[in-house]
Amino acid sequence: MTASRHERRAQVARGRRFGHAPEVTFWIDRGHWGRGIGSQALALLLAQVPERPLLAGTLVDNLGSLAVLRRNGFREIGRERILARGRGIEVEVEAIRLRLD
Ligand SMILES: CC(C)(COP(=O)(O)OP(=O)(O)OC[C@H]1O[C@@H](n2cnc3c(N)ncnc32)[C@H](O)[C@@H]1OP(=O)(O)O)[C@@H](O)C(=O)NCCC(=O)NCCS
Repeated sequence: MTASRHERRAQVARGRRFGHAPEVTFWIDRGHWGRGIGSQALALLLAQVPERPLLAGTLVDNLGSLAVLRRNGFREIGRERILARGRGIEVEVEAIRLRLD
């Protein structure tokens, strides 16, 4: 998958502030949310991937994602305002950056 120019600029800006490291991101089919699958899937991934630190990011109001990351040992390292695209417009939202050492 290739990143757009906007995404690449955001990655470089984040890299300056939070350091460069591989980033984890996850997506579970909506019909299966809240059954522990996200937490278990991330735990399985972390058991197989020894590389540390790992970075992650999520919007402040994404409580499910935050629960999954914190349960697996990720700790908050900072917050930033990012542009999120939704319904055809870009809005500024607060995101949390997390790291697992
Ligand atoms: C985030 C996501 C992966 C979570 O997957 P999941 O399988 O539902 O996660 P789990 O069931 O393991 O854990 C979710 C936890 O968050 C909690 N949670 C979810 N929504 C919540 C809310 N609105 N308020 C409070 N807690 C909430 C659940 O109760 C659960 O906690 P518990 O196990 O203590 O009950 C899933 O919602 C998803 O794919 N979302 C869309 C993509 C996304 O946002 N990805 C994250 C970007 S990094």
